[in-house]
Amino acid sequence: MWKTTNLTEKFDQLFPASNKEKRLFFAPGRVNLIGEHTDYNGGYVFPAALTIGTEMVIREREDRTFHLASTNFEQRVSFTLDELTYDKEDDWGNYPKGIIKELINEGVSLTGADILYEGTIPNGAGLSSSASIGMVTAFGLATLAQATLSRVDLAKLCQRMENHFIGVNSGIMDQYAVGLCKEKHAIYLNTMTMHAEDVPLELHGHKIVITNTNKRRGLADSKYNERRSQCEEALRRIQVKKPTVQTLSDLTTADLPEMEELIGDELLYRRAKHVVTENKRTNGAKEALQNGDLAIFGKLMIGSHLSLKEDYEVTGNELDALFEAQRKVDGCVGTRMTGAGFGGCTVSLVKAEAVDSFKKQVEEEYVNETGLTPTFYICEAGNGVHERLLEVQK
Ligand code: GLA
Repeated sequence: MWKTTNLTEKFDQLFPASNKEKRLFFAPGRVNLIGEHTDYNGGYVFPAALTIGTEMVIREREDRTFHLASTNFEQRVSFTLDELTYDKEDDWGNYPKGIIKELINEGVSLTGADILYEGTIPNGAGLSSSASIGMVTAFGLATLAQATLSRVDLAKLCQRMENHFIGVNSGIMDQYAVGLCKEKHAIYLNTMTMHAEDVPLELHGHKIVITNTNKRRGLADSKYNERRSQCEEALRRIQVKKPTVQTLSDLTTADLPEMEELIGDELLYRRAKHVVTENKRTNGAKEALQNGDLAIFGKLMIGSHLSLKEDYEVTGNELDALFEAQRKVDGCVGTRMTGAGFGGCTVSLVKAEAVDSFKKQVEEEYVNETGLTPTFYICEAGNGVHERLLEVQK
């Protein structure tokens, strides 16, 4: 893989010279600290942007044609503005293609472009590599076209692309975090009202450690869509008697006994219960962080994982093995799966001085348990999507 500083040189090798200007954009990945599988239920999420993500060098063309390349994939993808349909053969290229289609639908005037991407987020790790490529493309193209779309508009556009073009019924969390997070902050978002608050990540001598199970998330998309439908069905059953309830997040833990009765199905009730209890944990975690009470934050993370395991059933052997290994390490105050689940990563809150022993102990136990080797990443909270000056790169 080339270094970022070489990305424009590589661009020049791949694409014929032109008198148009090259521009460089970056969108991060994200890690969700707590508030999982709540965003498509009108609930609360609490993600931060990472400093790894997707860089994009782009230069406009005037022949209505797009040529896409990536340093991560062999495959190059080309299409015209008249060919904006999903094509399995285009593989990763469908993400930018879907974004171009959505921008056109919004009335943004695009004339074509040469684009080179370089991603540093492991694919399928649950750190939002797809929202990252989507948002960098949307933000870059909208900037070049001088479109008057806000970051929130672009996040929603990018979500529509995932929902309609790719076919994953994801919520707004990933695109929102990738688009709007601030350095050294997490963003607390109410996905019902879209009210957001930047909360300083003051960790008082702790580090946020992301551990990758290195298990590919097979069938993740279909299981994700299934969970979403189950929540919709649980809500529909509640609404028969309580039509004023708009989302599962209108309900509180005090409503649980009544919900159980109204839903009348054990599995659907557990799905709905996770959403209600996770909202409570997320609000508690935000308050704990603001009070500097990391021990409480950690306990809520543990509760979140257990609920995702037992009630929502999206963890699986590898995530559970990591969770069990991590929670017993001295100095690990909290740990949980992050993202959609079914493989991917965990996020842990670890005392700075315990990080080395954490890695050693967890690796040993996880390898023993699963035969897979984990990878660790110390999270620095970065900025949302932005343009980078090319001069600085040289
Ligand atoms: C994926 C989706 C998000 C969210 C999480 C689970 O990352 O893209 O919208 O639903 O899963 O919290």
